[in-house]
Amino acid sequence: MAKDFSTMEDSNRSSNPSLHELSDPSRRTLLRGGLGATVTGFLTPLSSLAGLAGCATAAGGGGALLGFKSVPTSTADAVSVPEGYSAQVIAPWGDPVGLSGENAAFKWDGSNSAAEQETQFGMHHDGIHYFAQNGSTSGLLVMNHEYVDDGLLHADGMKTWTRDKVRKAQAAHGVSVLEVEQKDGRWSVVKPSPWARRITANTPMGFAGPAAGHALLRTAADATGTRVLGTINNCASGITPWGTYLTCEENFIFYFSGGDTLSPHEQRWGLRKGGAGGYRWHEHDERFDATKHPNEPNRFGWVVEIDPYNPSSTPVKRSALGRAAHEGATTAVTRDGRAVVYMGEDARFEYIYKFVSRDRIQPGGFAANATLLDHGTLYVAKFDADGKGRWIALTYNQGPLTAANGFADPGEVLIKTRQASDLLGATKMDRPEWIAVDAQRYVYCTLTNNSNRGSDKQPAVDAVNPRANNTMGHIIRWKDSGDFDGTSFEWNHFVLAGDPANERADAKGNIKGDAFGCPDGLWVDGRGVLWIQCDMSTSNMGKGDLARLGNNAMLAADPKSGEIRRFLVGPAGCEITGATATPDGKTMFVNIQHPGESPSERSEPDLPRRISNWPDFRPDGRPRSATVVIRKNDGGVIGT
Ligand code: FEO
Ligand code: CA
Ligand code: CA
Repeated sequence: MAKDFSTMEDSNRSSNPSLHELSDPSRRTLLRGGLGATVTGFLTPLSSLAGLAGCATAAGGGGALLGFKSVPTSTADAVSVPEGYSAQVIAPWGDPVGLSGENAAFKWDGSNSAAEQETQFGMHHDGIHYFAQNGSTSGLLVMNHEYVDDGLLHADGMKTWTRDKVRKAQAAHGVSVLEVEQKDGRWSVVKPSPWARRITANTPMGFAGPAAGHALLRTAADATGTRVLGTINNCASGITPWGTYLTCEENFIFYFSGGDTLSPHEQRWGLRKGGAGGYRWHEHDERFDATKHPNEPNRFGWVVEIDPYNPSSTPVKRSALGRAAHEGATTAVTRDGRAVVYMGEDARFEYIYKFVSRDRIQPGGFAANATLLDHGTLYVAKFDADGKGRWIALTYNQGPLTAANGFADPGEVLIKTRQASDLLGATKMDRPEWIAVDAQRYVYCTLTNNSNRGSDKQPAVDAVNPRANNTMGHIIRWKDSGDFDGTSFEWNHFVLAGDPANERADAKGNIKGDAFGCPDGLWVDGRGVLWIQCDMSTSNMGKGDLARLGNNAMLAADPKSGEIRRFLVGPAGCEITGATATPDGKTMFVNIQHPGESPSERSEPDLPRRISNWPDFRPDGRPRSATVVIRKNDGGVIGT
């Protein structure tokens, strides 16, 4: 989600000591140098990890990891890919998803109804995964629709505001399941398809795990605290080894309106009167008015598990993974077969988490693992200044997580994950975004930016977040001790993003290769390429430290050499979000989110094509988020 820095959530006022008070600033230089010599002993490849990346059988291609010619920066309203590659657009916002009997066409003036939007692809495509059905020729794509631009969603934007408009906005959120197939290198969406599905902000879902049924999850509409309508602000995503999709609720608090006075709990989660995101749902849908339904916000901020192979299945919010402004959820597997889920919380000065399942993964798909994510231990990360770190368990009645400190039971620890992490001394990070794991057992995390780092009354720089006014972002990596369930780790900076042409030293970065800023999406393909996707805010794009970086881009990194090469540049006003590939590595799916996004909070409905008209370029059209299918013209593996 590209958000103006001035409105981005920044709610961590805990006195939790910042690492700089303990650290020697000179260490920062040492830690910048890429892979530290001290990180050894964990190099056993884990074959199943490549499978988790969705690309287990990708052909190697041989030779250098990065075999394509770098794409230059661009401000064009177009997708640029390297020489020898082609890009095809599928599944734009508003096209029918392929439900049986439901095929309302997209209306170019934005006048589709809420009921029609419920049968169409949502807005603002984000995390995505290809679930193979027939290898690399047909499968299911499952993808998130993070949020909406009401200035483009409705014909007259927000000039009038009605219950139907709220319903349409809710229908444009959530998740799409679509069937895709390839014929002669061209991909198409299968319509109708028995697998096609839209999950929206009003789809019934359940709660499971230790917080299910908790008093803080009960509302007037659900006295049991076990049933909830919908999922919102689904940013990054993940998958499980048993074939399910994990969608993550990021800036959910933006949709809720609070009162004139806010409780400490509401303040810690960034609730504001009127709603910080300007969505105005509370005006026509009372459950988003937290003054009337104070527990409704507690029912968001979770990781939601979806079984894409069962279109009538009920999505489940997995409370054992904790509540946060979850960017994503990335799964690894311990040597003895337990699931470990790494999660970042994308808000300024928030935290990085991991969940370790109690039980081992069983053969038999979702049915055999339907409660695997309900039992286990949640940890929060503390990064020490010496290149080491610790995972601190959020366990009820251990340490400060007691009734005396406001945690009545294990469920309350999970609902108040932020407050628990504050008390445990977790490290305040520069907006943790996507997490990716490679076959060498490195876990990578993007820290997209944090212009408040080092400002007045805010945490100063520390070893792991080493730059004040961090406009460019960085990528860290760590290796857990022994196995993915290790409670300590060693970390370093993979790269500090930037542009060497910048005058400000802290905005130059140390990239070996092409300049970029604000890393967000992160994905490791079957050959081990680390793909980096950028989310420079449209309010800052082309200005200041970002002046020479053009539109948002996707880059490929060689984790061993550290070389980074620009692979794709998106159209005007977009951000590049999710990426996935077919098992043969010859087709990559990349999401383009919010082309045409205005630097102001919403687009102007009278000028829908002012910034972008991608991908349709119709004189009466409007920009649409869409999925780009990337192929090599010679049919080879992407990136070679
Ligand atoms: Fe939705 Fe953190 O990007
Ligand atoms: Ca982002
Ligand atoms: Ca993101």
